[in-house]
Amino acid sequence: MHKTRMVQRISLVPVEERLRAIAEAGYNTFLLKTKDVFLDMLTDSGVNAMSDNQFAGMVNADDAYAGSMTFYEFAEAVEDVLGYKYVMNAHQGRAAEHLLTKVFAKAGDAIPTNYHFTTTKAHIELAGATCLEIYYDDALKTESSNLFKGNMDPDKLRKVIEKYGKAKVAFVRMEATTNLIGGQPFSMSNLRQIRQICDKHHLLLVLDGSLVCENAYLIRQREKGYANKTVAAIVREICSLADIYYMSGRKNTSVRGGMIATNNKALFDKIRPWLPVYEGFYTYGGMSMREIGAMTVGIREMVDPAVAGCSVEQIKYFVGRLIETGIPVVTPPGGLACHLDAMKFLPRVPQSQYPAGSLAAALYISSGIRSMERGSVSMDRDREGKEVMADIELTRIALPRRVYSISHIEYAVDRINWLYKHRDVVKGLKFVFEPPVLRFFDGRLKPIDDWGRNLTKAFKGEIGTY
Ligand code: F0G
Repeated sequence: MHKTRMVQRISLVPVEERLRAIAEAGYNTFLLKTKDVFLDMLTDSGVNAMSDNQFAGMVNADDAYAGSMTFYEFAEAVEDVLGYKYVMNAHQGRAAEHLLTKVFAKAGDAIPTNYHFTTTKAHIELAGATCLEIYYDDALKTESSNLFKGNMDPDKLRKVIEKYGKAKVAFVRMEATTNLIGGQPFSMSNLRQIRQICDKHHLLLVLDGSLVCENAYLIRQREKGYANKTVAAIVREICSLADIYYMSGRKNTSVRGGMIATNNKALFDKIRPWLPVYEGFYTYGGMSMREIGAMTVGIREMVDPAVAGCSVEQIKYFVGRLIETGIPVVTPPGGLACHLDAMKFLPRVPQSQYPAGSLAAALYISSGIRSMERGSVSMDRDREGKEVMADIELTRIALPRRVYSISHIEYAVDRINWLYKHRDVVKGLKFVFEPPVLRFFDGRLKPIDDWGRNLTKAFKGEIGTY
């Protein structure tokens, strides 16, 4: 339900160049330069296509350090769409996480989540608290028919509260479509159950709504009783169940920014004093007014099913095409991305040699497609410095909103199939440089037995230069 009115040229560099580029990047796709990338499917964050009206919102924005009318228009949109009276911006989602953990988490606390996100966990741990993952047991089964793998297990939550005592549970965090386990949604009935438990124990329920619209879209498709509700109404219902809402605006609203919102003035007043310290004045919170102008439009547009569903439908198609040829992929398809199960794709690469990282690098060499490692490279070491293996090893091929078409996906399907046939050439990786926190961003690795060269040779022999 959109047409393209502005385009950007992309190019596919020869396979030898791709080998050079990935070696220079330390086999870490984050460190590639875009001139070497053909399809950039690293993330759906900050790279979505904005609408014409969002660009207009940027031009019309009221640039002011304090009291900008654009901020008040933004606050009005937040109240109309999400139902929250109080809102502040933050420069992106992790900045919101920083403020929330600073205010609500202290050393020794526990924060139960349906699943962590990398930056969330880093902020929780920097506050000295522990991030607990209390999903249902089958959430980590990559091939599944469970339509709501993002659900939190209420029994486990009750046990956590019993074990830590409610005073030590800083808040309960629900992530709308759990990023790291494959963009899997929670159901409304699960969120209601969690809300009830929070009410009973007077605990705060914090919602990470970075992908709330995809979660709502999937509830509409999958949960009994929601087929005739609008995405807008479902988003509103989800939001009504949280005490505090925050989001990365880089995803659903297709801009670069973030926000925290609530209806609880006392909670809001606890966070608010810190905003000018870490982000910026109350009416811009570290964002440019132009981005807030675009976000105001984005908040209203994101609940349109043509926006909320655009990546969900593409992912469904992509996953379906890979299943046809037996490629191991996360099912059911969720929001955000198509996720390859790297342990099944590369069964000979042990987890200690980072199969998801190897697969991301191999996919780049075979196609020029940039995906992202979401496995053990994305896990930081524990407090004793020991490696922590991820629950699952995923290679995430993200679908930015309104950017790629089915023919781009068909290209990806073709190259993934080629790589699958040559998967035995691909071996593991080892770290040569490892930063102390969020190591996946800047870490550098080396291929075991120089497999990148062998894969390039196989590619040249069968496919050619491109
Ligand atoms: N929460 C979720 C669920 C996210 O997916 C992200 C970011 C954040 C918080 C942090 O927000 O990037 O604006 O600071 N996810 C991006 C990704 C980075 O590629 O999945 P941010």
